[in-house]
Parts: sequence; C-alpha cells; structure tokens
Amino acid sequence: MEVGTVGVVGAGQMGSGIAHVAAASGFRVLLADLEASFLAKARATIEKNLEREVAKGKRTADEKAQALGRITVCDGLSRFAAADCVIEAIVEDETVKKDLFRELDAICPEKTLFASNTSSISITRLAGATRRPGRFIGMHFMNPVPVMGLVEVIRGIATSDETAAAILDLARAMGKTPILCNDSPGFVSNRVLLPMINEAIEALREGVATREAIDGIMKLGMNHPMGPLALADFIGLDTCLSILRVLQQGFGDPRYRPSPLLVKMVDAGWLGKTSGEGFYDY
Ligand SMILES: NC(=O)c1ccc[n+]([C@@H]2O[C@H](COP(=O)([O-])OP(=O)(O)OC[C@H]3O[C@@H](n4cnc5c(N)ncnc54)[C@H](O)[C@@H]3O)[C@@H](O)[C@H]2O)c1
Repeated sequence: MEVGTVGVVGAGQMGSGIAHVAAASGFRVLLADLEASFLAKARATIEKNLEREVAKGKRTADEKAQALGRITVCDGLSRFAAADCVIEAIVEDETVKKDLFRELDAICPEKTLFASNTSSISITRLAGATRRPGRFIGMHFMNPVPVMGLVEVIRGIATSDETAAAILDLARAMGKTPILCNDSPGFVSNRVLLPMINEAIEALREGVATREAIDGIMKLGMNHPMGPLALADFIGLDTCLSILRVLQQGFGDPRYRPSPLLVKMVDAGWLGKTSGEGFYDY
C-alpha cells in the first residue's frame, strides 16, 4: 500500500496545512473545497507559509516552487479517483463528514485509504458510512500543521493492520511523528487536554486566581508553552465546548461537564481568537 497521491478535502486551516506538508514532502496533492474562492485563499496561504520556510532557510526557493507545482486544486471530487489516500479536513459535523465519505466511497477505487482529521468524532462511526471500514483510520494532525510534530493515528474497530502500517509510513514520510491509539471519545489528546482546560475555566469562575495567574502557574510550573485559558482561546471556545460534550456523552460521566462559564461565553458568541473576545481580548 504505497501512497504517491494524497487527496485533501477541506482547504481551511487544517486542510491547507496538510496539503502544504504533503506537497513539500514530495507527494502529489489534490485539494478540494466547496468554493473556488476558498481554494484560491488556501493556495495563497500555502505559498506564504512556504515562503516563510524559505526565509528561515528550511527549504530553497526551488523546493518551494516544486511543492506548489505538486498541488492541484480540484473543482469537485471526480479527480480523487486517482488518490491513494484521502485525508478529510472539513467541518466538524458528523452528518456532513459521513455524506462526504459516502460520496468519496463511490468515486475512489477499493484500494484507496480514507483518513479523517476529526478532533473528536468516532472513527468507527465515520468508517461505518463507507464500504471500506478496514481501510479507514483517524489521522489527527495538530495545529499549525507545518509546525507541530505529532500525528495522533486512531484505529477504528475495523481498521486493518495494513492500513495502520501504511498511514504510519505516510505520516513519517510527511516528516511527522505518528503515535497510535484506539478509537475512544476524545482519543488521547483531547481526553487529557480538555479536562485540564475545563478545570482552568472552573478555577477562574470560582475566583481561585486571575486569568494571568492561572496561565502563568501552568506555563512556568508545568513548562507548558501556553496557559490553558490562552490555549482555549486559540483552539476556539466553541470547539472546546463541543469536545467536552463528546466526552460527556461518550463516557456518561459528570466529571466531563463543561464549565458553566464556558457555556455562557459560547452563548454570547465569545469564541476566543476568531471572534476577538475570549478569556483575553484580541
Ligand atoms: N483547527 C484546529 O485546531 C484543529 C486541530 C485538529 C483537527 N481539527 C479538525 O480538522 C477539521 C477541519 O478544521 P479546520 O480548523 O481546518 O476548519 P476550517 O473551518 O478552517 O476549514 C474547513 C473547510 O472545509 C470546507 N468544507 C466544509 N464542508 C465541506 C464539504 N462538504 N466538502 C468540501 N469542503 C468542505 C470549508 O469550506 C472550509 O474551507 C475539523 O474536523 C476539525 O475538528 C482542527
């Protein structure tokens, strides 16, 4: 199962990063989104980020041009029949993702591997929407993709050993360090991270300390590069809330109850960095 062409669906924050890293690693990349304007924006972002790598001496101008030349933006999904592996990075909505995978299942040959970059949706359930659950897996890249080293690789209940091995190879060939886990709510990364963020929000709500003190204690004391409240703003408070709800529903355990302060802030439209207001102002 060797991968030469990678299809990426969703050219947003994550999809454009995945396309960038795949193309820079020598893969042919097919990139699709809902609208041509989103694809044009993604291409410009990739070009800018590659240029930054050239300025830092990480790659040459020639390598940048070659990487860009390997990316084909696609109007629709029909060309994805040529992909050896499709990585999905569209909106975090189970119904929309399942519809997309059904469509891809009809277009791509049986051998094509499917991977989802979902942060929290069950890989087993997404795989169930296709006729290839053995060739379906989670490939959870971290944000920003060109910078972060980890890919959390999530095996669904039916994922075959061959698929897992091929995806580990693909992640390594993209210069990342893949680490395997099994399908479970929040996988490992968000199951551990989100309760910490939620607890920091509860500490703020209870007046245990100021936002600066909570973040400062975690940064200096635990050697975290960002405090949990600043990190929540960066991830997006709506995303944090939806992942906590996945944990709460998936485990049926009250310890995952989202902080009422987080719920209130999302209700107010305060979503962190993207909206300009969160635990900090942007
Ligand atoms: N942002 C993060 O920090 C982060 C980290 C890890 C994983 N993820 C996951 O990655 C996925 C994408 O997140 P993002 O932050 O890049 O979102 P985003 O909103 O930046 O990008 C999503 C893109 O998908 C496109 N899209 C939506 N529905 C589509 C469809 N049916 N067909 C084709 N394109 C479609 C949108 O137009 C948009 O350009 C989500 O599942 C998210 O949970 C996000």
